[in-house]
Amino acid sequence: MAVDLLLGLQWGDEGKGKIVDVLTENYDIIARFQGGPNAGHTLEFDGIKHVLHTIPSGIFHNNAINVVGNGVVIDPVIFKKELDNLKKFNLDIEKILLISRKAHLILPTHRLLDAASEASKGKAKIGSTLKGIGPTYMDKTGRNGMRVGDLELESWCEKYRNLANKHQAMISFYDVDVQYDLQELETEFFEAVEVLKQLTFIDSEEYLYQAQKSGKKILAEGAQGSMLDIDFGTYPYVTSSNTTAAGACTGLGVSPGSIGEVLGIFKAYATRVGSGPFPTELFDKNGAIMSKVGNEFGATTGRPRRCGWLDLVALKYAIRINGVTALMMMKADVLSGFETIKVCTAYKYRGETITHLPYNIEAHNVEPVYTELKGWKKDLTQMNDASELPKTLHQYIEFLEKELEVPIRIVSVGPDRTQTIHR
Ligand code: GDP
Ligand code: IMO
Ligand code: MG
Repeated sequence: MAVDLLLGLQWGDEGKGKIVDVLTENYDIIARFQGGPNAGHTLEFDGIKHVLHTIPSGIFHNNAINVVGNGVVIDPVIFKKELDNLKKFNLDIEKILLISRKAHLILPTHRLLDAASEASKGKAKIGSTLKGIGPTYMDKTGRNGMRVGDLELESWCEKYRNLANKHQAMISFYDVDVQYDLQELETEFFEAVEVLKQLTFIDSEEYLYQAQKSGKKILAEGAQGSMLDIDFGTYPYVTSSNTTAAGACTGLGVSPGSIGEVLGIFKAYATRVGSGPFPTELFDKNGAIMSKVGNEFGATTGRPRRCGWLDLVALKYAIRINGVTALMMMKADVLSGFETIKVCTAYKYRGETITHLPYNIEAHNVEPVYTELKGWKKDLTQMNDASELPKTLHQYIEFLEKELEVPIRIVSVGPDRTQTIHR
């Protein structure tokens, strides 16, 4: 059986959590392949709103197994909190949540290093979620990291101490003031590690291979978005993992040939949280409306998300890099009420009009060229069927499909599981 992928195509927060939850009934296994607790994936159903950070978004369906893949970085402290928050749902966690032994661990000192690195950058800071993501992936590629499987070894505390000591020396290398009480952080960390150790650790690449062989349907859940990819995003204002399709192969150990559908998810407009270029960003009342109606605040940090019109130059780029086979458009309801809706179809770049994403998309290099479309007035949030959608929304969708050359299969009209229209 093929492995399908679900990926964010913008700067994250496209609505991956909601859609994975909606799609889980069609899959046996949901597997996260990269990122860590920098992610915040929101699900809403039966009047409950729930945010997941490391745990895959299929967790609320007892039929599916959720795998945290080798490409993910896990902070035991945040993981424990996530498990605590799930207690009230009476899920059979040990059975439905499996963790790769090869996933790397975020240590308390990784978080401190993140804070020190950001503080040292001043105005040029990345706007990191400060969850220790960058330093943990640095230790992974630097071949110094600690993995979940290490926790099964007697010597893990020694390994921990050596790495933490090294980190402390590195923190003092940064000429910034980072206040911390390591003993307190470590008490919390060691307690959380004991909780993590009660879960089921697996060799996830082997598990997923056998699952494919026996005909199980697997959905790989991405975190962040393509424009935050370490290689293809708006570097250096990116995260530290490959958020794009190839990341699912390295983050789960599934082969390129086994990839089936690549489901790309985007908002009907665009948002970004943290620093970095965002050509279509709005600083006017339209941006403020998107922010308010879309409730655009980060699910992990609570920071306001920057808002702007849909950028087809960036979206086409993401579609190509990922090989997207079907699209899902989220938050169409948020655009209800706009007289006209703008879509960026090209950039003015150094005196030329271009339709590809150049190396440098900072505001001083790039000016968006917009196509204007007619908006719609109707409230979409109670609609259940594509036939109910207003004519001008159909026109918006058809315009996008023509430009993007990929069908839009789902239109989301609200945060709840049920507010999902299939086309
Ligand atoms: P993720 O990181 O991609 O999972 O997305 P987030 O959960 O960080 O952000 C998406 C936000 O939009 C969440 O608050 C969702 O509940 C909400 N959301 C998802 N789809 C829709 C939609 O179609 N309409 C509206 N109004 N909200 C949505
Ligand atoms: P989900 O999975 C939106 C952003 C941060 C920052 C940059 C680097 O919910 O879509 P990091 O913590 O990785 O060092 O931050 O990336 N960022 C996200 N933005 N959604 C996310 O995840 C994000 N994860 C990281 O704001 O600009
Ligand atoms: Mg999010």
